[in-house]
Amino acid sequence: MNTVAAARTGKTGDAGTGFETWMQSHQARIESVLESALPGSDLVPERLHRAMRYAVLNGGKRIRPLLVYAAAELVDCPKTSADGIAAALELIHAYSLVHDDMPCMDNDVLRRGKPTVWKAFDEATAMLVGDALQSLAFQALAQALLHTGASRAPELIVMLAQAAGSAGMCGGQQIDLASEGQTLTITKLERLHRMKTGALLQASVVMPALAANAPNGTLGSLESYGQAVGLAFQVADDVLDATVDSAQLGKTAGKDAAQQKATYATLLGLDAAREKAENLRNTAHQALARFGDPAARLRQLADLVVDRTN
Ligand code: IPE
Ligand code: IPE
Ligand code: MG
Ligand code: MG
Ligand code: MG
Repeated sequence: MNTVAAARTGKTGDAGTGFETWMQSHQARIESVLESALPGSDLVPERLHRAMRYAVLNGGKRIRPLLVYAAAELVDCPKTSADGIAAALELIHAYSLVHDDMPCMDNDVLRRGKPTVWKAFDEATAMLVGDALQSLAFQALAQALLHTGASRAPELIVMLAQAAGSAGMCGGQQIDLASEGQTLTITKLERLHRMKTGALLQASVVMPALAANAPNGTLGSLESYGQAVGLAFQVADDVLDATVDSAQLGKTAGKDAAQQKATYATLLGLDAAREKAENLRNTAHQALARFGDPAARLRQLADLVVDRTN
């Protein structure tokens, strides 16, 4: 059985339920958490709420929530806190996609197999959807933490803000736009990827550990794992953009080359980019060594991030 098959079935010798079953049940869980967090489309302003729900529900691989739930199981983070953290990260991620697709950014018309929000609604609505999803993310997190009385609630809110803001996703997006048509050094490309994509993915595994008040050693190992998986995720995204068609991706393929984006595929070539992702998979696995079998889900998720086909 190859690594992907082993990861998908969970038959790696250390997982109870199969990975596929675990993944589906947690994807269903986050879908219902998001469904209840989002305002109903019958509430004023209906158009904005309809567009927010369009942007968030029924789509996406939910990788960030899956990382949250896997880390939460490892560190015994209460499920209510995990739900709030998972919803917050997925809402920020969904907002980042809505803005990323706008004409002033990547100018994309296809996302998760459907017209992008600005295309299905209009540009001003897409901007407001992003703004409102970001506020909702902090609301969902704060409400969950209030409910569980997490002692490190302020640190969690700071961590989400940093991962989403100018030192994280937004900052990375700015550098991404400024780098179009430029040849970056590999160090600068790595920083760009760590900011625009890595920061939210890393927060996905560190936030549950903070919420569970895990010891520093655990936090450090999860930080290393999250850093490797976060970078691997964008390297894989770059390779997929250059190798897979739009129907399979659910978004426009070949955009990076067309827009002269700075990516691992364009800078290093596909083989070296794939090798980079493999090295990052190994780094992620090594970071989990101290945990043994209870980290099986996180190992399987690192494999999924590297081996995914969309
Ligand atoms: C796409 O993220 C944007 C990047 C950060 C590379 P995903 O591949 O997680 O997108 P969805 O959520 O599954 O649509
Ligand atoms: C976007 O990177 C990362 C975000 C912060 C949204 P990309 O521009 O490569 O994402 P896709 O390929 O459009 O999903
Ligand atoms: Mg982009
Ligand atoms: Mg894009
Ligand atoms: Mg991309």
